[in-house]
Formats: sequence, C-alpha cells, structure tokens
Amino acid sequence: MRRYSSGLRQAGKTIAFVPTMGFLHQGHLSLMEKGKALSDHVVVSIFVNPTQFGPNEDLAAYPKDEDRDLEMTRKTGVDAVFLPDARQMYPDGFQTVVSLKALPKHLCGLSRPGHFDGVATVVTKLLGIVRPHTAIFGEKDFQQLAIIRQMVKDLEMGIDIVGAPIVREADGLAISSRNMYLTTDQRQSARCLYQALTTSRQLVKDGETNADAIIRAAAARISAYPETTIDYIAICDPQTLDNVPVVNGLVRMALAVKVGKSRLIDNMMLTQ
Ligand code: PAF
Repeated sequence: MRRYSSGLRQAGKTIAFVPTMGFLHQGHLSLMEKGKALSDHVVVSIFVNPTQFGPNEDLAAYPKDEDRDLEMTRKTGVDAVFLPDARQMYPDGFQTVVSLKALPKHLCGLSRPGHFDGVATVVTKLLGIVRPHTAIFGEKDFQQLAIIRQMVKDLEMGIDIVGAPIVREADGLAISSRNMYLTTDQRQSARCLYQALTTSRQLVKDGETNADAIIRAAAARISAYPETTIDYIAICDPQTLDNVPVVNGLVRMALAVKVGKSRLIDNMMLTQ
C-alpha cells in the first residue's frame, strides 16, 4: 500500500481515501464518488477495527461480504482497496493510543467509552499507511468527523478532511450497515430517528428556542414507536459538541436510539 501511494505521489497524482469497515452501501459509494471528483486516484480501506468496539458491542456479529464489497468498489471506479488484517494492524507489542481530550466526552462517546480512542488510533494509522491528500468521512458519524478534523489539525497531518452528506432511504432512515439487523417491524420503528429530527427542525423554524422543549418533543416522537430506547438526544454546537440550552445560532441535533438490539444514530442541522 505504501509503495503504491509513494509511486502515485512521485508521479504527481493526488489520492483521496475512504476508510470503511466494509459491508458497503450507498452511503459509502457517495464517499467514493466524492473522492473521484476531488482527486486523481481513490483508495478504499476495508477493516473492521476491533479496538473501536466495546466488550458488549457487535464486533463478532458485524456484517461482512468481501466479494460483494470488492465488486462494488470495482463498479464505482475505485483504484485500490486496502484490506489489512487485525494482526498486521495490531502486531504484538503495539502500544500507542491516540486520544482526544474533550470532543469524545459528548454524545456517543458517553455511552461508548474508548470507542473514539479506537477510531482516532486506527484512522491515524490508516492515514499514515495510505498517505492520501484528502480523506472523506460521512456526516452520519458526525462526532467521528469532528474528532478526525481536530486530530488532523492538532497533529499537523496535512490532509484535507472532507465531510459528505448523509444518504437516506426514501422514508428518511439514514443508510447504515447496522440497518440490516432490523426485523420488518423494527424497520418501521427506525423511521422515528428522522421524524424526531425533522419535527425538531420544524419547531425551531416555528420559533421554539428552548432546547429542552425541543428534545422533549423529539423524545415523545421516538417513544411513540415500539421497541425503541433512547440512548441520547442532544442539541449541540457543531464545532465543540457542547450542549446548547437556547437555540439562537448554528446548532445540530444528534441522537442515538436502540431499535430492538440495534443502536442507530442520526443528526441534522436545526438551523441554517
Ligand atoms: O466510520 C467507520 O466506518 C469507521 O469508524 C472508520 C472511520 C473506518 C474507522 O474504523
């Protein structure tokens, strides 16, 4: 991978990188298309990173279909796919952790301790191997994108981090590899995330500024659907991720809801 990258760099070519955990879907393809538009070459990595899963999370059950993934990257015009295994990425003696001080202490970081250390460490390592000019991440994992932007800035990595908009199903559900865990009934309930976000955005448009009142309305919307358990609903500053009590500037709503056993996340700007 390093040799391939150095060759391209020496030839004056630009590289866009899309890191993934595989089981590719329309959301990933939109990142690859963005990469193609921005650079001469697109590299995709597929690696289910064990260090970003907690002990009671879905690492063992995480969906996999390498042949299908490779076919999809080929059809999309990706130039190279990097598929390391866990022993190559974390050989005996590996001991470095990349950890941010403040951004992980919000939203998903509160219910997934250690998750963002795992993400920051593996992304640092992947960026070091692939050495892209640009790396593209989906806005569905909004906190992840904020963390990577900060990390790349703090560590002077000199890579452009580009966010790409959430890709949704016709009824608004954000596309995610984890949607495949949902039963038919749970799939109906999963619409609650997008509905909570659009209801909140409408409340703000109608003049509501009290974040608690907006969050209560969003929670009611979600709880109206069976098999839903709210992990968090937050209205936050899109840069710092700090909770915002009164909506009077740019704010983002982010939420995580368990539908059955699947933990789904979504987010949306409430103001333009
Ligand atoms: O968003 C993901 O799929 C993962 O968190 C990433 C960025 C590939 C790191 O493992």
